This record gives sequence, C-alpha cells and structure tokens, in this order.
Amino acid sequence: MIAEAVKESKSVERIDWEKLRADFPILQQEVHGHPLIYFDNAATSQKPRAVIDALVNYYERDNANVHRGIHELSNRATAAFEAARARATRFINARSADEIVFTRGTTESINLVAQSWGAKNLKPGDKILLTEMEHHSNLVPWQLLAGRTGAKLVYLPVTGDEGLLDLSKLGPLLSKDVKLFAMVHISNSLGTVNPVAELCARARKLGIVTLVDAAQSAGHCPVDAQQIGCDFLAFSGHKICGPTGIGVLYGRQELLEAMPPWQGGGEMILSVDFQQTTYKHAPHKFEAGTPDISGPIGLHAAMDYIDNIGRENIFRHDQELAAYTLDQLSRLKGIRLFGPKTGRAGVVSFLLKDVHAHDVVTVADQRGVALRGGHHCTQPLMRKLGVESTARASFYFYNTRAEVDRFVEVVREIQKFFAG
Ligand SMILES: Cc1ncc(COP(=O)(O)O)c(C=O)c1O
Repeated sequence: MIAEAVKESKSVERIDWEKLRADFPILQQEVHGHPLIYFDNAATSQKPRAVIDALVNYYERDNANVHRGIHELSNRATAAFEAARARATRFINARSADEIVFTRGTTESINLVAQSWGAKNLKPGDKILLTEMEHHSNLVPWQLLAGRTGAKLVYLPVTGDEGLLDLSKLGPLLSKDVKLFAMVHISNSLGTVNPVAELCARARKLGIVTLVDAAQSAGHCPVDAQQIGCDFLAFSGHKICGPTGIGVLYGRQELLEAMPPWQGGGEMILSVDFQQTTYKHAPHKFEAGTPDISGPIGLHAAMDYIDNIGRENIFRHDQELAAYTLDQLSRLKGIRLFGPKTGRAGVVSFLLKDVHAHDVVTVADQRGVALRGGHHCTQPLMRKLGVESTARASFYFYNTRAEVDRFVEVVREIQKFFAG
C-alpha cells in the first residue's frame, strides 16, 4: 500500500494518506461501537504491517543471540542487528555507526548520558541548563545527577500559554558555569518546535555540551544530528512506528569514546581478569548483556517505512492537521488552548471550562476517540501554566481531517454534556 500511495503522490504531488491507513491493522477496528480515532500518537504510535512482519520474520527464521555465535542463525541475527545500526546512522545523519548506541528508549538514552558523561564531567557549582518544557525524562535524570555531583539546574523560561521559549533570557543563562544544555526538540505537551540548531550553536560557541530530546521529532520531521550540531540526541522506536523497548542514543564519537561504561556485563568487554577489565570501543561498551535484538530489526523496518513516505511530508501533514484542529477548536466558547498559534507540530493541548481533562478523555473514549489527559510527564510546565493537567490530541500521518471533524464534534458534545 505504501508504494502505491507514495508513487501516486509523486505524480500528483500529494500523498494519499487515507490509503496508508490500510497498512495499520489496528486502525481497522471499532472501539465502544465507534470507528477508532487514535489521537494519542505522542504517547506511542501505531505499527504498520511491515514492522509487524519484520518482527515475525525474525522470530520465525533468524532468532539467535548476536555477536558471540559462529553459527548461521547467529550470523544472520548479528548482521540484521548491525544493519539496523547503520540504518539509524543514516536516519539522523550521524557521521558513523559508532555514534549510535541502542538503548531502551529516550529515557534510557538520557540516563546513560547523565550517569556516564555527567558523573565524569560535572563538579559542585557547575550548572545544567534545561528548558521549562522538558519531559520528566529530560529533567529527573539531571536532578539525580545534580544531587550526586553538587551541580545546579537552571531553566530557560516558557512564555506562558503560547508555549514558546523566551529566547531573550538565554544570553544571561548561558554563563561559564553551564556545562550542559539539554532541550526538547518538539514539546509533547505544547507542540512547540524549538530552534534546536540555533540553541546548540549558541551553546557550542561557549563550549557547552548539548543534548537534544528528539522523542517527538525523530519520526515526525527531518532530524539531522550534524545539521543540528548537538553532542547527544535521543529518540524512541515506539513513537516512530517501531516496537517498544528500543531507542537510540546518538553521541559525537569523541565524547562517547571519552565516557566510561555505565553498566557492566557481557558483550561490552575486550578482556576481563579477576581485578580489572578492558572495554570495547563505543558504542559496544554501552551495550552490556544480551541486547534487544528484535527491537532494532523492527525499528529498521519502521525507519524504512516512514522515510519512504518522507519526513518532510509527514511534518507538513502533522502541521496541517494541527492548524486545522486549532482553528476548529478556537471557534468554541469556554476552551483554553495551549501552545504556539502557528508553526506547531501535531500536538494540540486544551482545557474545557469546568471540565476536568480526565473527564474529557473518558467521554471521548466512549465515542471511540483516544486522547490523553494529564500532566503529560511535564509537571513543572503544568505548574508554570497554573493547571494540573490538559487534554491532548496528537497526530500522525495516518490521521485525517475527517477524524479531526469527528473529534471536534465530540468536544462539542462533551461541552453540552457537562453544561447539563
Ligand atoms: C518529549 C519526550 N521526551 C521523552 C519521552 C520519553 O520517551 P520514552 O518513554 O519512550 O523513553 C517522551 C515520551 O512521551 C517525550 O514525549
């Protein structure tokens, strides 16, 4: 289906997004008697048949442990595992496959940097600069590190409901004590697309190490680690059509090589004796034990799948749906909308007057619409905005305008229902 949908698009300069839906078995169902409208893509994406088949194929034909076997199946599994690393290298335009560490996801990638790079490079009085819109994954690991090293956390403010970074405050915050600047590329709560290349360039001039949380961007827009100019970048497979339990940490090779391992065990060693060990080079020294093998194989299929559509096309589609949703919702009375008015990614957060976000999500679910309600793992941001939670609709390329129309109708019904 994808070949057909994309081929047609080349001739008419449009992609038949509806046709792509046929690649997603899970979307062909009803929930509570209504066609499923899946608008919880920022939490996790759905998986196309190509990814499911890659996993089944691996377990049916090639399953074996990697790197240590000499038999045929182990060779096949190892080749597929390393081919996935090469694919991830191209996916984010890293310089070399040695810059790609497989992890469980964005959270583990950031924890790896905090524990390994952070423990080696931070001392009391140093500062870690974050933004006020970080996911807990890009906040709690740095708090833990600060607790261990005596470093301090400082934050680049968010402007308010519009959800932009207040760049006028960046200059004074980039002081000489700042050793690391970690920032989210696309906010999962606000849909803001941050100017990460510009932020990294400003930090780099001062010798500050940078980390980009690309959890919401890697599968939704072109992400080029060299063009962004960051030192580290993290993303999760499950948000980009891949399986759960697999993610990527990109690190510039010089940094990865200089970092100590963070976990010890099999696979990551060159030689072990009773008192000491020599380690493999990066990335292998960061991958102790039997890794998730099917994960990278499924992720490989996912990266192929979405790059066949084209991430610039996906981004345009996400942005169009978000702009359309925002326009439709802003016509309603008693609604508070969060995030930028223009140029946002496919995430729309809102609150209805006198209706708790959880109630919005519960009633929407009864009508087959999957939303998310809560703090979205951004509690400090919610506090800053003076709310406990929001309801959130988040899109991917298989969502349609017709689904948005139905969703807006459901929001109207919810307003009526709670108005009594
Ligand atoms: C912006 C952002 N960063 C980090 C994460 C954490 O990703 P994971 O749970 O896959 O590690 C998420 C997940 O929602 C996210 O949206």
